Amino acid sequence: MKALVLAGGRGTRLRPLTHTVPKQLVPVANKPVLFYGLEAIRDVGITDVGVVVGDHGPAIRDALGNGGAFGLNITYLHQHAPLGLAHCVMLAQDFLGGADFLMYLGDNVIIDGLGPLLDAFWHTRPDAMVMTGKVGNPSEYGVAEVGSGNIVTGLEEKPANPRSDLALVGAYVFTPVIHQAVRSIKPSWRNEREITHAIDWLLRNGWRVESHLHGGYWKDTGRVEDLLECNRAALDVAEPSIRGQVDDTCEIRGPVVIEEGAQVSGSRITGPAAIGFSAVVRDSRIGPYTSIGAECDIVGATIENSVVCDGSTVRGSLRDSLIGRQAKVSGDFGRPACLVLGDHSEASLHQGAS
Ligand code: G1P
Repeated sequence: MKALVLAGGRGTRLRPLTHTVPKQLVPVANKPVLFYGLEAIRDVGITDVGVVVGDHGPAIRDALGNGGAFGLNITYLHQHAPLGLAHCVMLAQDFLGGADFLMYLGDNVIIDGLGPLLDAFWHTRPDAMVMTGKVGNPSEYGVAEVGSGNIVTGLEEKPANPRSDLALVGAYVFTPVIHQAVRSIKPSWRNEREITHAIDWLLRNGWRVESHLHGGYWKDTGRVEDLLECNRAALDVAEPSIRGQVDDTCEIRGPVVIEEGAQVSGSRITGPAAIGFSAVVRDSRIGPYTSIGAECDIVGATIENSVVCDGSTVRGSLRDSLIGRQAKVSGDFGRPACLVLGDHSEASLHQGAS
């Protein structure tokens, strides 16, 4: 079986970060979102992976190379415009050939889900299998109606009045009949060929589509609050380890990862938290639920529930923030600031006149 990983799209909901970095490479617990998916694919024994890339293709290629570092053999497929997930299947047809395949949305993090999905698929081998998860806000997803025997009886993309609370999670298993389906549908109002519509076409034409309910954690990291939530979930399961230098004026509480070359002094680190490779943290309070990227320079700062990407400098107080690479935050706001800052940006915090 091959895998098709979708890593295109414009990431508009994560701007300004996604002006310079694809949403799939934004880190959670100091690891790009896309790496979680590729590792999960490798862990189920798939090695041939097609990665569909768009405008941010060069950055994705730089990060993944030929896939060797993941134990994968990666083929890149270029999508010239974000024309939808079903369009990705169309352009990947030659790569996929006549085989069943796993399709994985590269901005989704699915913990421990792919093995059970593939087992369920092989058990009954339907014409397509969707992964579903219960959500409180189904209108923001593709939504499945599921009858007895896990048979999908209806599908809608982001319905205003959802008929179930079962969202489509970003992993699907398809048999070759999907190639006929993606060619038979029309683009939606957002001018995208929706994979949900292609699967709905299968249903309406008598093909059997089953749902596999994922009970574990998953997240579509398309928005800042989702990314921060995913960062918390990934930190919760990260194996604590201290490889960098922590001097004896520090207090380390709870599960903390401190990477090699990091230097932490005069600080309190409250886990779950991660401090990246060669980062400097001095006279600061970090955590809980905070990831500080490689080579960051954090001095006199308080940072909680945030992601700070590689090479950034923080002097100040932050919470619920997403700070891009090589950004600079300084100043005092009188209370923690909540910022979303793009790469190479600067924010100087001042208390306004009251
Ligand atoms: C896409 C799919 C949607 C699915 C979601 C999962 O939505 O169209 O059906 O539920 O991914 O992440 P998008 O992220 O393109 O809005």
